Amino acid sequence: MATSAVATNGKLHLDPADVRATLQPVERASMLPPAAFVDPAVLEWEMDNVFSGWICLGHASVVAEPGNWLMREIGPSSVFAMTGADGVVRAFLNACRHRGARIVEETEGKVRRRIQCPYHAWSYDLDGSLVAAPHMDEVENFDRGCFGLIEVRSAVVGGLVLVDLGGEAPEPADHVGDLLGFLDRWHVGSLQRARGTVYEVEANWKGIAENYNECLHCPGVHPELNALSDYRSGDSQFGSGRWCGGSMTLNEGADTMGTGEGHATTRPPIAGLDESEVNSVYYFSLFPNALVSLHPDYVMLHTLWPKAPDRTEVTCEWFFEPETMARPDFDPSDAADFWDTVNRQDWYVCELTQRGVRTKGYTAGRYSADEGDVHRFDTLVAEKYIEALG
Ligand code: FES
Ligand SMILES: [Fe+2]
Repeated sequence: MATSAVATNGKLHLDPADVRATLQPVERASMLPPAAFVDPAVLEWEMDNVFSGWICLGHASVVAEPGNWLMREIGPSSVFAMTGADGVVRAFLNACRHRGARIVEETEGKVRRRIQCPYHAWSYDLDGSLVAAPHMDEVENFDRGCFGLIEVRSAVVGGLVLVDLGGEAPEPADHVGDLLGFLDRWHVGSLQRARGTVYEVEANWKGIAENYNECLHCPGVHPELNALSDYRSGDSQFGSGRWCGGSMTLNEGADTMGTGEGHATTRPPIAGLDESEVNSVYYFSLFPNALVSLHPDYVMLHTLWPKAPDRTEVTCEWFFEPETMARPDFDPSDAADFWDTVNRQDWYVCELTQRGVRTKGYTAGRYSADEGDVHRFDTLVAEKYIEALG
């Protein structure tokens, strides 16, 4: 990740008046200051102060079995979650306790009983404890029990693997709050992944989240999506926890979001959903980096990984019920292909925005009445900023 050439001393260099302007009621609010999208020092601050609290690493099915691991880069840091022989998911710093080498390099993988450092072959049990350290027998006062992998606070909530690098965030249940009710209704914790892809987007991570939180751009940018649901349909949802979002209603005749006008699927709806849920898609942002889209018959999860102020890696994955995936005619292509098209349309406008916002002399814009969820997301960001700015 790019680091600032300026010595910031960990301070956030934004004008508090600009941030307070975002925190106004939406009718009076201004958008986040342009510097928040382009200044490397702001991103550095966000990695230390926003991405150090609860973030979503991915979906629990990826680490369903003992020895499965899921690794992510979080700014200059790296963390992996791994399931122990006891079935418990734990997260560790991806740094060997000998000389600090990265232990895993791939995003996902599986080991049988132990995970071994590629440098000098120290190896660790699936619960992180050090079990073999070659050539350390004659070292004075070397207690293997003190050199297990450094564990990071983690939790699995509603099927999402969360980590708290700083270790001081509120309880994970408070972070997710009432969003858990939605995750549970869609059985997110028991779904399995059928597809996944990664995009490199030349835009700030917040711009990508803002774009996800409104559909005013849908008629112009997403003709395929707009044919399946009216861009002003549905409602915002409110509740406890650090999330925002709401629903959109599927048009008459559309079964889901997919190619083939939304009915190129033989998948049944997710068990237990009511009529209105089967006719809707719910789009939620769990602050800061997870975008969870609940469809009648599948769930899509985007996770955002900032690489630079103007560059974000976006992981997009599609999850289905295991019974549905076991059907002989199961095919996720309609959903994955549809969203790949829509994703790329979104990245295009996010990149246009990034290039406009960085223009010298540009000042923050205003929210339309239909951008309440964008404002709610920006408020979650601005609340973090104002904690530091006073
Ligand atoms: S750095 Fe891992 S074994 Fe030496
Ligand atoms: Fe979009």
